[in-house]
Amino acid sequence: MIFITGATGFVGGHLVDRLLDKGLKLKCLVRSERAVDSLTAKGVEVVRGDITLPETLEGILHPDDFVIHLAGIIIEKGSATFGSIHVDGTSNLVNEAKKSGVRHFFYQSALGADKNSRATYLKTKAEAEDIVTGSGLETTVFRPSLIIGPWDGFTAKLANMIKLSPVLTIPGEGKARFQPVYIKDWLKCIDKVIDNPGGYLATYEIAGPEYIEFREIIEILSRSMGRVKPVFKVPMGLMKLAVGFFGALPVSFPVTSEQLELLETDNICDMDVVKKNFGFSPVKYEDALKDFISL
Ligand SMILES: NC(=O)c1ccc[n+]([C@@H]2O[C@H](COP(=O)([O-])OP(=O)(O)OC[C@H]3O[C@@H](n4cnc5c(N)ncnc54)[C@H](OP(=O)(O)O)[C@@H]3O)[C@@H](O)[C@H]2O)c1
Repeated sequence: MIFITGATGFVGGHLVDRLLDKGLKLKCLVRSERAVDSLTAKGVEVVRGDITLPETLEGILHPDDFVIHLAGIIIEKGSATFGSIHVDGTSNLVNEAKKSGVRHFFYQSALGADKNSRATYLKTKAEAEDIVTGSGLETTVFRPSLIIGPWDGFTAKLANMIKLSPVLTIPGEGKARFQPVYIKDWLKCIDKVIDNPGGYLATYEIAGPEYIEFREIIEILSRSMGRVKPVFKVPMGLMKLAVGFFGALPVSFPVTSEQLELLETDNICDMDVVKKNFGFSPVKYEDALKDFISL
């Protein structure tokens, strides 16, 4: 049995469909009634629970389970902080996995995870990695770069801006480099881990085959959508001021100061990392967009 957390998210949704296509039996941890209904309709066994509430996890795992722990957040909201979800939530799930002695535990971290990072997202991902790899269980960790594909929130937000705005707004110079990876390639990598878990007992960076500046990401996406527009760079200082100003008000602002910091920092690794560890060449950003973007 494959046990999945985060099955209702972008990555989890694609994973569920892929594994069902392969004929695998799935059990998913979900929080909402709506998710129970939609996954049950697909033939998935569903468990109602929350990784931050250890009492909801009691007894849900079995020795034959292969755990795929994807649940995570990109923006903190109320009590759902990076610490409570990534660190405490992962710790709760690992404790339960240890009690049941699951056969394998996979954790989805993030490229750039680092206990010394100034970004709490990356710091807490590194802390969660330690909890997983120090558990004594058989484990695999992925550190993916930005994952793109149908329904990914990042591309959807940018595509919306490109559709609605007369200019393309870029915070700062847009010079930080990224290495987007296509969801189909991420799926190919995890397929290999599921088929041969004992062959992948380490931490793997998962990233596309090229470095692309944030400015280029926006330009390539707008070109792929057939909507080339003038680029307008907003000085980073001004963006941060706006975030600080709106942050003090009871209104929501589309980006956080931490996200702005992440947009200013390179998030890259070896360009051949997937080829070296998984034996295939992932597709380039523009080719991935051609595969899934609707104009
Ligand atoms: N997408 C990327 O580019 C990317 C890149 C690197 C790493 N990652 C990591 O990959 C994982 C999946 O990303 P994603 O893009 O698929 O995220 P997503 O679309 O935001 O989905 C997050 C998932 O986590 C679940 N979740 C959140 N809090 C939970 C809790 N307390 N208990 C149980 N489930 C909870 C959500 O369930 P609800 O539906 O109930 O909210 C949802 O299923 C995350 O850990 C993320 O940090 C993503």
